[in-house]
Amino acid sequence: MCDEWTQMSNWTICVVTERLRSLLKTVSSRSSPRELQPTENPNTMDTDMTTSVSSFGSLIRIPQSLLHGKVGSGRSSASKTRQHLKWAVYTCAFVFCLQALLEVVEADPVLASSLGSCKPVPVLKGAPLHCCLPAPKRLTIRFTFPFIPRTLLGRPILRERKPAHILQKDPEYVRKYNLAYARMKALPDTDPRSFLNQWRVHCSFCNEAFQQRKTPGPLGPETGVLLQVHYSWTFLPWHRMYLYYHERILASLINDPTFALPFWNWDNQLDKDAAKMPAMFLPKFGIPNAALFDEFRNSNHYPPKILYLGYNSKLEAEGQQNLTDQQIKYENLCVMYNQVTTKISARDFLGGPYVVGTDNSAATVNVSAGETPGESGGMESVHNVAHEWTGLINDPDHPDNEDMGNFIYAARDPIFYTHHSNVDRLWDVWKTIPDKVTKSGIRKRMDYMSRDFLDTEFTFFDENQNMVIVKVRDSLDSSKLGYKYTDVSESDKMWIYYEPLPAQESSKTCNSSEYPAPVPSGYNYIGMDPVSFKLDRRAPTTEDCRGKGVNNVDQLQEDVVLERVKIPHLEYARFDVFINYPAANRWTHLYMSEYVGTFTHLPSGMVDMSKSVSESSSESDDKFRIVTIRYSVNAALKRLGITDYNTDIVVTVVSKGKRNSSPTTGFTFSNLKQDFQ
Ligand code: C2O
Repeated sequence: MCDEWTQMSNWTICVVTERLRSLLKTVSSRSSPRELQPTENPNTMDTDMTTSVSSFGSLIRIPQSLLHGKVGSGRSSASKTRQHLKWAVYTCAFVFCLQALLEVVEADPVLASSLGSCKPVPVLKGAPLHCCLPAPKRLTIRFTFPFIPRTLLGRPILRERKPAHILQKDPEYVRKYNLAYARMKALPDTDPRSFLNQWRVHCSFCNEAFQQRKTPGPLGPETGVLLQVHYSWTFLPWHRMYLYYHERILASLINDPTFALPFWNWDNQLDKDAAKMPAMFLPKFGIPNAALFDEFRNSNHYPPKILYLGYNSKLEAEGQQNLTDQQIKYENLCVMYNQVTTKISARDFLGGPYVVGTDNSAATVNVSAGETPGESGGMESVHNVAHEWTGLINDPDHPDNEDMGNFIYAARDPIFYTHHSNVDRLWDVWKTIPDKVTKSGIRKRMDYMSRDFLDTEFTFFDENQNMVIVKVRDSLDSSKLGYKYTDVSESDKMWIYYEPLPAQESSKTCNSSEYPAPVPSGYNYIGMDPVSFKLDRRAPTTEDCRGKGVNNVDQLQEDVVLERVKIPHLEYARFDVFINYPAANRWTHLYMSEYVGTFTHLPSGMVDMSKSVSESSSESDDKFRIVTIRYSVNAALKRLGITDYNTDIVVTVVSKGKRNSSPTTGFTFSNLKQDFQ
C-alpha cells in the first residue's frame, strides 16, 4: 500500500519535475540568467543556488535570480516568459509540497557532501588537523556507471584486485603502484586528487567534520547533525565508493586504466604470507617503494608476525599475549567465522540504520539521554582490529595511535587502502555464504532493501577533479563498478566452514539462575574483570519477522544485544563475548565453542562544533560514543545443545580495553537482551 502510494507520488513528482525542467530550459534560454559556477568558498555556495530534485534523483539547479523574478530582458515573448515563470514557481511549490508529504511517509536517507561547514579536528598532541576539502572547480555531477570493455565473446573485462602477498612478487606491479602514489603525493594541495586530500576525505567523513543535509544534492541545507559514516549501514558502501575513486585516480596518474588496488588478505590462514603486513609496504624491500612506506606503523608487527584478530594492545604491553602462530591462526578463523559467517542479517553484518537525524557522533552525553546509538556490523568490528594492530601502539610520543590506529590519521597510510580493499572483498564474499545459521537453512544474505539505505548519498572527487554525487544503491554490485577480486575461496572456506572446538560439558549444564540479570535501563557495568549475566530467552513470534525480509520464524537469527554501551571516544575498546562459560577471561582462547563474537571500538578524534579548537578534545575530555552491540548466537546455541527457546543462558563479557586508562575504569550499558533479526 505504502509502497504503491510512494511510487505514485514519485511518478507525479517525476512528471511535474520533467515539465518544470523543460520550462526552465525555455525560460533560461530566453532570459540568460547569471551563469551558475561553483564559487571558491564552499560556505557561500548555499546562497547561490537552490536545489530541487526529481524522483530519479537528477539534480535541477534553479537560479535564485529566477525565483526572485530577476529575469533578463526577454525580447520577443516577454509575457510568455513571465507566464512560464509563474508556472515554474507554482510547480515548484507543488513539488516541494509533495516532497514534504513523502517525507512523512518515509524516514529520510542521509544526504551528505564534502561541502559546507567543515571544522578542524582536534588531536591529543600537536596542532588540530584540517580535514576540509577544496571546493570543486566545476559543477557537481551525478554518478554514472563506468564503461566496461568486453571481450569478443561479450564477457566484461574487469579490473582485478589481487592479493598483496602475490602482487609484491611482481616487480612491475610494485613499480607502477609506487609510482602512482608518488605522483599522488606530488600533487598540489589545491588538487582534490592529492594524497593529502584523499586522506582528508576519510578524516572528514569519519570524524564528523560535516553535517547531514536536508535535501538531496551537495548544497542542501544542513541539519545540524554531524555526519559519521562509521557505526552503521553506511560503513561498507561509503568505503567502497571511496576506494573506487581512489583507485581510478591512481590509475589515471599512471595512465593505466587496468590498474587495480591490491588487497591485504589478512583473513587468509592458508598462505604463509597473506596475513603478514605486506612486505611491499615496508622499508628495505628491494624494489623502490618509498611512496608506499609510512613511518607511523607498529614495527613490532612487521613480518614474520601475522595479524592477530584477537589482538589486544593492553595485554601485549603487559607481556601477556604470547600465543603461538598456530593458536593465532585458529583464533583468527574463529573470529572471522563469528564476525562474518554467523551474521546472516544485513543488520548484523553491515550495521544498523543511519537516517537523517541519527546522531551517533561522539558527544558529551549521559546514557539515558536521547542520542541514537551507533551500531557497527560484524565486518566493521573485525576491520577495526587490523587498524589497531597496524598503528603505533603504546608509544608515549604518539598517544593518538597514528596512523592506522586512529580514524583521523588512518588514510595517511597507503596500507589503509589495501586493508579496505579486503574489507570490501569480504562484503562480496558474505553474500555468497550459504545459510548454516537459521533453523530453516534457506535464508539468503542480502543487503538492506529500504530506500533509506539505497538513497543515502555522498560526494567524492573523481579522477577528473569533478565532485560526484553517489548513492548507496550505486555501490551494491562491484562488477558494475568495473572491478573484481582474485578468487581466494580456498582460504575463505577455512573460516566460512570453521568448526570451533566442541563445547565443554560444563557449558551444556551451566545454570543461569546463579547469575544476576541485567537491570533494564539501570546501571549495568562492564569492568576489567569479566562479568556474567543471566539472559532470559523467549521464542520468536511472527511479529519478529516484520521488516526483516523473511516469511517465517525459522529464518530468523537470534542475537544477544548489549544496548547503549558508553565508550569514551578516545579509547580503544574490545568486548569478547562467551555463552554459558562464566569462567572465560582475557586469556580464554577465541577458538572455543562458547565464544560468539567481538566488538571493537577504535579511537577517533572529533570535531566539536560548539567549542573552539584550542579548548576542545583532550585525553581527559568527557565525550562518549553510545553503541549497541549484537552477537549472533544461533550456531553457538546449537553447539551447546540448546535447541529450544525456554533455556535461559549466561552471557559473559570479557573486556579487553581500555588502553589508556587505569584498570579500574569500566563501561556502562543500559540493557542486555535477546533479539531476532
Ligand atoms: Cu573509515 Cu577502516 O575506516
